[in-house]
Amino acid sequence: MLRRVNFYSICIAFGLSVLLILAGSRYTDNTNYRPSSENRRNIKNFLKIDDGEDNFLQSVPTNPYDGSPNIEKIIEKTRSKIKFELWNYNYTISGVHRLEDLLMESGGRPLRSLIISTWRSGTTFLGEILNSMPGTFYHYEPLLKYEIIQIRGPPHSDKALKTIKRMLKCNYDDMEDYFEYGKTHLHQFSHNTRLWDHCKFKKELCFDSEFTAKFCRLFPFQSMKVVRVRLRLVQEILQDKELNVKVILLIRDPRGVMQSRQHRNFCQPAPDCWKPELLCADMISDYVAAGRLLQQYPDRLIVLRYEDLALNPNSTTHRLFKFLGLGVTQSVEEFLHSHTNVEVAGVSSTFRVSRDVPFRWKNVLDFDYVEDIQMTCKEAMGLWGYKMAHNATHMASKDFYPLEQYSLTQ
Ligand SMILES: *[C@@H]1O[C@H](CO)[C@@H](O)[C@H](O)[C@H]1NC(C)=O
Ligand SMILES: *[C@@H]1O[C@H](CO)[C@@H](O)[C@H](O)[C@H]1NC(C)=O
Ligand SMILES: *[C@@H]1O[C@H](CO)[C@@H](O)[C@H](O)[C@H]1NC(C)=O
Repeated sequence: MLRRVNFYSICIAFGLSVLLILAGSRYTDNTNYRPSSENRRNIKNFLKIDDGEDNFLQSVPTNPYDGSPNIEKIIEKTRSKIKFELWNYNYTISGVHRLEDLLMESGGRPLRSLIISTWRSGTTFLGEILNSMPGTFYHYEPLLKYEIIQIRGPPHSDKALKTIKRMLKCNYDDMEDYFEYGKTHLHQFSHNTRLWDHCKFKKELCFDSEFTAKFCRLFPFQSMKVVRVRLRLVQEILQDKELNVKVILLIRDPRGVMQSRQHRNFCQPAPDCWKPELLCADMISDYVAAGRLLQQYPDRLIVLRYEDLALNPNSTTHRLFKFLGLGVTQSVEEFLHSHTNVEVAGVSSTFRVSRDVPFRWKNVLDFDYVEDIQMTCKEAMGLWGYKMAHNATHMASKDFYPLEQYSLTQ
């Protein structure tokens, strides 16, 4: 009798613990940083090659707020979450022994990466690949308040570079104008999904420089994208030894860029955005700067063409992560898997991103317009390995493959 009672109580205790474990894992799922609706949203991003000027809504993460506005508690929870998500990460790949070596709050130095590009060049896709790495603080675009201009030198360069350096160091002092701009342009924060998870229900958190700095310092990986500063100026950031930042220059075919910009109303009033001659002069300037900086900092600058990334996302990402000192985690692989298989509006048929995605301009642009761009951009296109279309038939034909090899050291 006694034995049987014991048997039943063991069964009940066992059942209860299974329930508890299940509830626990449920809880972990709910608070996971990567929201479940992320896939479809990002496919949209990828196809649209957004650079976030106008896609605030589709960037809102969907997990529930935990209801706690207590800053200390948020910091503590985030700290444990990062540790948990990286529990089996191999830090040797990142050149250190343990997580703390990468944490500013423990006196370590995070791995920092900076994407330099221009509007509509695929930075959203690349930024989200980096953001799929656990423990990433995605600074997004710190220069939104400059609106649609390119910064090539004074009067804005000093302040812009200072802002970039400061933010990469999680220093948000004297940044009132950044926070002020964000109050009316929430997409400045929403792309930083791990930060936004906490401020989407309490916006003041995102306007709070002290909280932002403290939160930022918890993250071992820090990434940022900038579409308003030319590479030549980035030398100053590469020189900063404390930052030790790695720079990714992302280039795209000017015909694809211009086609994509046609549909953006932010672009039209701004010459830096709708004049191909300015875009292509920047591409030449970036080419020259890249050649020089690669010699000075061979392991701190990498150059990617958007087309190569879109056509070979897996191998390009592996190469990029190796360069950045990042291990490709399961979450990154899942991201690539789900974002390079395009799901068509709820229909379950899936297909690989085809060669047509980066070359859509071939089928939608008027040849007269393409000819204008090609004439203006002849030199830039030659340098970066983009081939000319000879006439309308040639342009639209399957045999015309716009890419060829390019070399940065002539
Ligand atoms: C971690 O990575 C290093 C270098 O890539 C490798 O030599 C080592 O075997 C890895 N350690 C584990 C536990 O996988
Ligand atoms: C992705 O690329 C890596 C390295 O090039 C390779 O080891 C891996 O098998 C590839 N994965 C897929 C799904 O093709
Ligand atoms: C268009 O260009 C292709 C490739 O150069 C050429 O073979 C073809 O004859 C051209 N067609 C016309 C109508 O000019």
